[in-house]
Amino acid sequence: MKNTKKMIPTIFKTLHVANLDELGELYKNWDDYENDVIQLAGYVGHIVTTEALIRHLKNKDAKILDAGCGTGFVGDILYHKGYKNIVGVDFSKEMLTRALKKNVYESLSLCDLTQKLDFKDNSFDAIVCAGTFTCGHVGPQALNEMVRITKNEGYISFTVRRQEWDASPYEKFINDLQSSKLWRQIERYTSEYSTKEGVNCELCLFQVTK
Ligand SMILES: C[S@@+](CC[C@H](N)C(=O)[O-])C[C@H]1O[C@@H](n2cnc3c(N)ncnc32)[C@H](O)[C@@H]1O
Repeated sequence: MKNTKKMIPTIFKTLHVANLDELGELYKNWDDYENDVIQLAGYVGHIVTTEALIRHLKNKDAKILDAGCGTGFVGDILYHKGYKNIVGVDFSKEMLTRALKKNVYESLSLCDLTQKLDFKDNSFDAIVCAGTFTCGHVGPQALNEMVRITKNEGYISFTVRRQEWDASPYEKFINDLQSSKLWRQIERYTSEYSTKEGVNCELCLFQVTK
């Protein structure tokens, strides 16, 4: 990630934190998040995850969780495509405050995706998680909770940054869920992710089948 360190030091730092507290401090003070990720890094994770979901989720009343919503890029796209029932969660209070200004969420709340989630089983028709399965952030263990809170036949669309995919057992978690018949793969491919930075991701769209 030499490129990243030089081009976008803010992103580099978030990928190399020692713990969640350190990560929280970085997001707290990251006022230029949108400019850094879009203009400097050429980030498209929010676009590819929502496009994948929209190809399959036709019900505009669907209740959708934007997991790790950040400043609200995903919610903004979905809302303007006609999906109005969007719940955003993030572990950074400051990112949630920025997302609130987009005026596209039914609700926004604090949540740590690495823990048991404060939602009942089968709460959502779909989950989008863009840019959050990445180095130093959230690992594949979080997929189990996402499946729990998604309804039967609901969708989970997410990106995994390439270096994170290579370093963590995503394949294992994905295959375990598949062999337990808790979801099935709808789409999975290498996608553009952070285009100016020269980093791709694994784009995954699964349908819950419990
Ligand atoms: C790279 S940003 C992506 C934000 C947004 N989804 C987007 O596409 O722009 C990652 C987000 O994950 C959040 N995050 C990191 N660790 C988290 C955790 N354990 N639980 C919930 N959110 C987390 C950060 O606060 C940040 O808003």
